[in-house]
Amino acid sequence: MEDYIYSFSSFLVRSRVSVNLFLSQFEPLALLLALLLTLLVARVLHSLFSVIHDKGLKDTLLGLFMSSFKLIPGGKSYIDAEKQKIVDKWQSGSKSKRDEWRTELPTTGFGEGIIEDMKDAKSKDVDWKGKCSGTVYIGGSESEGHFSLISEACSMFQHTNPLHLDVFQSVGRFEAEVVAMTADLLGSKEKASGGQVRGNMTSGETESILFAVKTSRDYMKMKTGITKPEMVIAESAHSAYDKAAQYFNIKLRSVPVNKEFKADVKAIRQHINRNTIMIVGSAPGFPHGIIDPIEELGKLADSYGICFHVDLCLGGFVLPFARKLGYQIPPFDFTVKGVTSVSIDVHKYGLAPKGTSVVLYRNHEIRKFSNSINL
Ligand SMILES: *Cc1c(COP(=O)(O)O)cnc(C)c1O
Ligand SMILES: *[C@@H]1O[C@H](CO)[C@@H](O)[C@H](O)[C@H]1NC(C)=O
Repeated sequence: MEDYIYSFSSFLVRSRVSVNLFLSQFEPLALLLALLLTLLVARVLHSLFSVIHDKGLKDTLLGLFMSSFKLIPGGKSYIDAEKQKIVDKWQSGSKSKRDEWRTELPTTGFGEGIIEDMKDAKSKDVDWKGKCSGTVYIGGSESEGHFSLISEACSMFQHTNPLHLDVFQSVGRFEAEVVAMTADLLGSKEKASGGQVRGNMTSGETESILFAVKTSRDYMKMKTGITKPEMVIAESAHSAYDKAAQYFNIKLRSVPVNKEFKADVKAIRQHINRNTIMIVGSAPGFPHGIIDPIEELGKLADSYGICFHVDLCLGGFVLPFARKLGYQIPPFDFTVKGVTSVSIDVHKYGLAPKGTSVVLYRNHEIRKFSNSINL
């Protein structure tokens, strides 16, 4: 034993002597500079690798290329000029029209003339029917009857205020019915859902997502005391999550999709930490129309005890019927363990007018955190 200790300490002494000998040939100042330079290089490499980790190699290289291009004399002004050209192109045309826009209340009323005026403006809109995917979700010949029915119903309730449900009991009943019917389509009556699904109508999927994120944040704060919340999403998730993260002070971790353009479950797992409050999945996502692996994501959320929101904005009123028609649709709703909330657009394939969506929570225990009173 002593032999070992002896030879080890003599090894240390010898190494020290040779290191000193090696260093003595340099000026102290040069040594200091070399040390600083090494630290600097390490720092640059560290931030480069974390950027690659967050953005992916391709985007990082593109970013590096763009910033080096800007360093070349004239490079930055070239890019700025190109950008300005595009902005000018967008704005030309609309500028002259805008000169005709009213900017002050007219001194005398328009009377019936206002309708003619509006008809005229409308006639100059793009002819979208059946031509603009993702804009209005019905537009063929079947839309005529549908639109007049919807218009009649809407005009009947145009001048109500759903905040006062004691006055407008009919409106309250209709909201409850839309929520219940939607929940039924999404498994609320199946045993696996727990039979306690609750929800509300909102003005659109963005608001539904904002609600779900805020609710998850406050629910997780109560459940586990997380005060520096983070959420992990796939890059294909809707921009509403970016908004929610900003509004509600949540750190957003956006993970690249896999080769099939689906949420990458393994990569998402790697981004979960003790501050993570939720993950999200889309069925399908807006950019590719591809359904994320909802069951696997549900398992992941369940194993970490965190929330899992499923964005059914596009698929919610399609997938249940596709399944009835015999298509193989993997589970995507409250029958999946781990799903804590979903959102679904009545104003997309629900074929209702813009401004209607539904957010649903697995139970009241979660839903009650959508109210600010519970903060
Ligand atoms: C349309 C859409 C949204 C946002 O919906 P809005 O109703 O426009 O706010 C969110 N997620 C997906 C998947 C969508 O298709
Ligand atoms: C949401 O729904 C609950 C019932 O589930 C209801 O009590 C509440 O008033 C609704 N809130 C809104 C904002 O509609």
